[in-house]
Amino acid sequence: MCGIVGYIGQKNTKEILLEGLKELEYRGYDSAGIAVLSGGVFNSFKATGKLINLEEKTKEFQTKGFAVGIGHTRWATHGKPTELNAHPHVGESSYVVHNGIIENYAQLKKNLIDEGVTFLSQTDTEVIVHQFEKNLKTTKNAFDAFKKTIKELEGAYAILLVTKAEEEKIFFAKNGSPMLVGINEANEKYFASSDAPLIGHATDVNYFEDGDYGYVSADEIIIYDKNDTKKAPHFAKLATNKLSAQKDGYRFFMEKEIYEQSDVIADTLLGRVSEKEVLFEELDASLFEGINEIKLCACGTSYHAALTASYLFERYAKVKSTVEIASEFRYREPIMSKETLFVVISQSGETADTLETLKMAKNAGLKTLAICNVDNSSMVRLADATILARAGIEKGVASTKAFATQVTIFWMLSLYLAKRNNTLTQAAIEKQLELLRALPLCVKVQDSMHERIKRLSKRYLHGHGFFFIGRDIFFPLALEGALKLKEISYLHAEGYPSGEMKHGPIALADPELFTIALLPEHLLYEKSKSNVEELSARDSTICAISPLAFDKADDFIETKKQKDYMLEFFEMMVVVQLLSLEISVRLGNDVDMPRNLAKSVTVE
Ligand code: M6R
Repeated sequence: MCGIVGYIGQKNTKEILLEGLKELEYRGYDSAGIAVLSGGVFNSFKATGKLINLEEKTKEFQTKGFAVGIGHTRWATHGKPTELNAHPHVGESSYVVHNGIIENYAQLKKNLIDEGVTFLSQTDTEVIVHQFEKNLKTTKNAFDAFKKTIKELEGAYAILLVTKAEEEKIFFAKNGSPMLVGINEANEKYFASSDAPLIGHATDVNYFEDGDYGYVSADEIIIYDKNDTKKAPHFAKLATNKLSAQKDGYRFFMEKEIYEQSDVIADTLLGRVSEKEVLFEELDASLFEGINEIKLCACGTSYHAALTASYLFERYAKVKSTVEIASEFRYREPIMSKETLFVVISQSGETADTLETLKMAKNAGLKTLAICNVDNSSMVRLADATILARAGIEKGVASTKAFATQVTIFWMLSLYLAKRNNTLTQAAIEKQLELLRALPLCVKVQDSMHERIKRLSKRYLHGHGFFFIGRDIFFPLALEGALKLKEISYLHAEGYPSGEMKHGPIALADPELFTIALLPEHLLYEKSKSNVEELSARDSTICAISPLAFDKADDFIETKKQKDYMLEFFEMMVVVQLLSLEISVRLGNDVDMPRNLAKSVTVE
């Protein structure tokens, strides 16, 4: 989750940029940097880790008088979180910061290298500044060179570029990644990728639209739209509440994080899914040598992701897979074999029970792998190998986007292992890769769906309990749906395998028992349906979630027709998350900080 800031004015530019970056801290990052151009001289600083490291590096540096500056916080996607890969990226006499993905960077980079350009980083961003400088040599005009460069880029971006060729301007472009410019009465100009850094500085803001590009100087804001037509900025008053600005207009962090899932899944796939195979450059093939079993260990939501993984590993890669709740595993004197790969799953990487099981596995001499969202966390430091989820900072106590990225990783890993173990044909793998590529779109929240769930939620504020039911991987999803509801609504909810209801819980069925039935079209539909019919016959209130109409349901949330059950899984994941959110909102609960819970459970 990268962040961008920019400033043109007379104030202490360094301080303004650092302050702005601090406001973006809540999004998470692994490195940060600034570049300031003043009196014809560039000063640029970068540091990995926390912002304090950048503050430390810039301690001696002061700006006086007019300056232009740009800054960036980076969450690594292309290339590791090193100083060289941190933004701003430099050319001969220009600097650039960028959010998003330049999809055709490899081709542009190859052409530039062939022409003798040296690259310093592994990022896609660096091509922008070199391409700009190449164009500048022919156009001789910075704006023309910038415009030409933008037209050559494919992908999503928010870009700020500063250059000695036009010292008093910041060039900008926006396509698919957010960016705004703010003004105030002192004639200062502020850029940022969200409202938060501008609050207290700017009074009015213009939100750029996709395809907008242009430049800003002390006196002008020049904007062209995607058809190259000049347009006037459209200013709106800037909010004054920082916390609400951090939520980007959403009511809660949890809601924002549900909406972010499409982006963070795209980030998680980035560079890991080719036409032919799944690539994990962070994994050494030797990790799987001599392994005949995978044991997955976690707590809470991460445990549900692990359960999902066990189905996928056995189905696609034919590897025996077992799943353990960490707090149980650590005290039950488990038998550990060196042919077992021990996998811990954790959003935070700090959960005490999970961390302890990792230590136990290490002590027993097992090979270990961490699936984690926080680089440098205790688990990442301890495990032999790590696959980082790229969910960005998750603020809502109820985990949503971290779960989405964990399951995405496990789906990828099952295909990686299937290829290695020769358990799926190449054609079958390629079909799965196509589905993976469709995933970001599949989890995009549809307004109509959210509205329907909002309306429906009013019928589910009471009752003596909820049963979320599903079969196969929809059973862990049922567990996850029930956990979400429990956490933030304080209503009793259980996740259950659909086929298991008749072995006891069906005794509870009456109109006040709410069954949330996961009915995917492409996985055991008829079997799941008949389980729900059994509950409906006993008068349980049924809310069916399915792409197929179901006449025994009291309520029906229609999902899209998908090509495969994995896509149905992810779409239904969004539905159960939104349902819990809306029930909690109606009950007036604190969605982001539910009672009795902490985001990271670092005690036993
Ligand atoms: O950071 P971790 O993934 O290790 O956390 C594990 C659980 O504490 C966590 O998933 C918890 O269940 C969440 N509140 C679920 O929403």
